[in-house]
Amino acid sequence: MNFTDAKRKPNVLGKVVLAVVLTVFCVFILKQSPGIAGTNMFSVHELGVTHVLVTGGAGFIGSHAALRLLKDNYRVTIVDNLSRGNMGAVRILQGLYPEPGRLQFIYGDLGDAKFVNKMFSENAFDAVMHFAAVAYVGESTLEPLRYYHNITANTLTVLEAMAAHGIKTLIYSSTCATYGEPEKMPIIEATPQFPINPYGKAKKMAEDIILDFSKNSDMAVMILRYFNVIGSDPEGRLGEAPRPELREHGRISAACFEAALGTIPGLKVRGTDYNTPDGTGIRDYIDVTDLVDAHVKALGKAQSGKVGIYNVGTGKGRSVKEFVEACKKATGVEIKVDFLSRRPGDYAEVYSDPSKIYRELNWTAKYTDLQESLSVAWRWQKSHRNGYGSP
Ligand SMILES: NC(=O)c1ccc[n+]([C@@H]2O[C@H](COP(=O)([O-])OP(=O)(O)OC[C@H]3O[C@@H](n4cnc5c(N)ncnc54)[C@H](O)[C@@H]3O)[C@@H](O)[C@H]2O)c1
Ligand SMILES: *[C@@H]1O[C@H](CO)[C@@H](O)[C@H](O)[C@H]1NC(C)=O
Ligand SMILES: *[C@@H]1O[C@H](CO)[C@@H](O)[C@H](O)[C@H]1NC(C)=O
Ligand SMILES: *[C@@H]1O[C@H](CO)[C@@H](O)[C@H](O)[C@H]1NC(C)=O
Repeated sequence: MNFTDAKRKPNVLGKVVLAVVLTVFCVFILKQSPGIAGTNMFSVHELGVTHVLVTGGAGFIGSHAALRLLKDNYRVTIVDNLSRGNMGAVRILQGLYPEPGRLQFIYGDLGDAKFVNKMFSENAFDAVMHFAAVAYVGESTLEPLRYYHNITANTLTVLEAMAAHGIKTLIYSSTCATYGEPEKMPIIEATPQFPINPYGKAKKMAEDIILDFSKNSDMAVMILRYFNVIGSDPEGRLGEAPRPELREHGRISAACFEAALGTIPGLKVRGTDYNTPDGTGIRDYIDVTDLVDAHVKALGKAQSGKVGIYNVGTGKGRSVKEFVEACKKATGVEIKVDFLSRRPGDYAEVYSDPSKIYRELNWTAKYTDLQESLSVAWRWQKSHRNGYGSP
């Protein structure tokens, strides 16, 4: 008895020591090769983890969507070629979610089909939120090909890669610009789509491609048609920071903040003779926090083989004059306003009926106080006069 015991002990000890040495060795090897330790969490499907590819995730809406997805424990890959987005926004997200397997950034161009296919074969995506696009109505009338290329053609490339790699869910960023200027307000999802500028037409074509494809596919598809997006992260981590060279095409909120900061002399309101109560255009302003909430709800309720199309707006129209007043109050600056003639490609009045998304996805806008949304965005603008800093 004593004899056998004495003989066994060193044996067990030896095995334990060997196991420990081997484990340490393996961990060391894994740590040494970032190809394995760094990317494998993104390249395999994991039970209970939904991995979302966020295209255009360095942009305004995409970065806010990525933040919300990360907060809700999704695994996120951002792809962006930084043509319009900000690496600074990605860095903020990386700082908030540094743990392995949470957030990955891939630099690349969605117009490059070879790159897109490589990305899909090297990563195990469960869903795609496709935000990447060029998105200025005015610019689209000047450079239509840029719009058909970077919206319509790139969406086709992404869809082909999704189909080839069996990705199950697509959430597509569309726009109220696909409706053009319908006579009847508010706009419902069944309102006929007759877009009147290349931006709206390019998005409508992309929708059509997705719809035709989905007739013979089991992909779960949600098309969200946003109205005018404003605001920023209430906790002040992210904001809207368009490139200086895009200022002239800019949206009203960006222009209002620049006027308040003094980087532009004042606001130019284009069109005062529209058939609206105060003559200025009427829009439906949706806060980005509500918008990304709609995306998460759409992702949660997307059903295989089905397409859901939803307006994402507040259902309430506000005139440009009202907007400017709210902006003056939010910034506390007496902004100079010039009233000019109409801009080509613009429409008089656009607001949504968002009741379908409430009925079917239980989504409703919560941040509907224009001045409050602008105040939140203004706080970020004031403390980030240089945007996210150098790109
Ligand atoms: N902002 C709005 O009011 C609004 C309204 C309706 C719909 N949308 C849609 O929402 C989406 C996001 O808009 P946003 O306001 O955040 O714009 P944004 O310009 O801030 O973001 C778009 C992002 O896509 C990236 N991108 C563009 N082309 C790319 C390419 N070829 N490859 C890789 N990345 C590329 C840009 O670098 C940028 O980061 C767009 O599809 C837009 O049409 C926006
Ligand atoms: C981004 O992609 C576009 C094509 O959509 C390309 O023309 C442009 O050069 C790219 N920009 C960068 C910075 O890679
Ligand atoms: C969009 O497409 C055009 C080609 O039509 C290209 O020159 C441009 O760089 C592309 N990218 C962006 C972000 O505009
Ligand atoms: C709808 O959302 C609200 C919160 O906005 C929640 O309180 C309610 O339980 C939800 N209803 C259903 C049926 O999921």
